[in-house]
Amino acid sequence: MVEDSLRRKGLTIREMRESDLPSVIEIERLSFSTPWSETSFFNEIYKRHSTAKVAIAGERVIGYMCANQIADEGHILNLAVHPDFRGRGIANTLVENILEELKENACRFLYLEVRASNNVARELYEGFGFSVVGARKEYYTEPKEDAVIMMLRL
Ligand SMILES: CC(C)(COP(=O)(O)OP(=O)(O)OC[C@H]1O[C@@H](n2cnc3c(N)ncnc32)[C@H](O)[C@@H]1OP(=O)(O)O)[C@@H](O)C(=O)NCCC(=O)NCCS
Repeated sequence: MVEDSLRRKGLTIREMRESDLPSVIEIERLSFSTPWSETSFFNEIYKRHSTAKVAIAGERVIGYMCANQIADEGHILNLAVHPDFRGRGIANTLVENILEELKENACRFLYLEVRASNNVARELYEGFGFSVVGARKEYYTEPKEDAVIMMLRL
């Protein structure tokens, strides 16, 4: 199913590589007020419990997603799509791809934090069946804001 949807969109999803980092960092800076450093992404590429994927259109990196899994619990750590390519199902495809991989690894619970005001991301996750299970007070800075914790039972 994921393969069909990739073909339709002319997209490839593959593991993130060190050579992707300049493009990933560019998207990260366009997407977040407190962006991850290049070292943070570098670490996600090599950490044993982490998975980092990029979405490629033609030769270009247009989005990415990082998650990890310890025992049967997974955590979505980061997700962004280049502003020029938003609204075309790229994030949906990345999430589908990682969900499939986590399910194959016997992940049962998947968590994430998202800014309370980030309705686009919240709707995206709700579309996959995530629901709000808690909040973290003033978790984010620039601007200061609560995080909503969302969970999906796989
Ligand atoms: C959130 C983000 C990753 C979505 O990427 P995208 O590729 O544009 O998303 P998609 O086109 O795959 O859409 C996925 C879902 O998001 C929601 N969505 C997307 N654009 C939306 C919009 N403009 N308004 C409301 N909901 C929207 C919808 O639920 C959509 O599902 P649907 O098409 O089945 O209705 C992207 O907006 C982004 O990079 N934002 C900045 C970084 C960020 O907020 N990351 C998430 C942190 S937790």
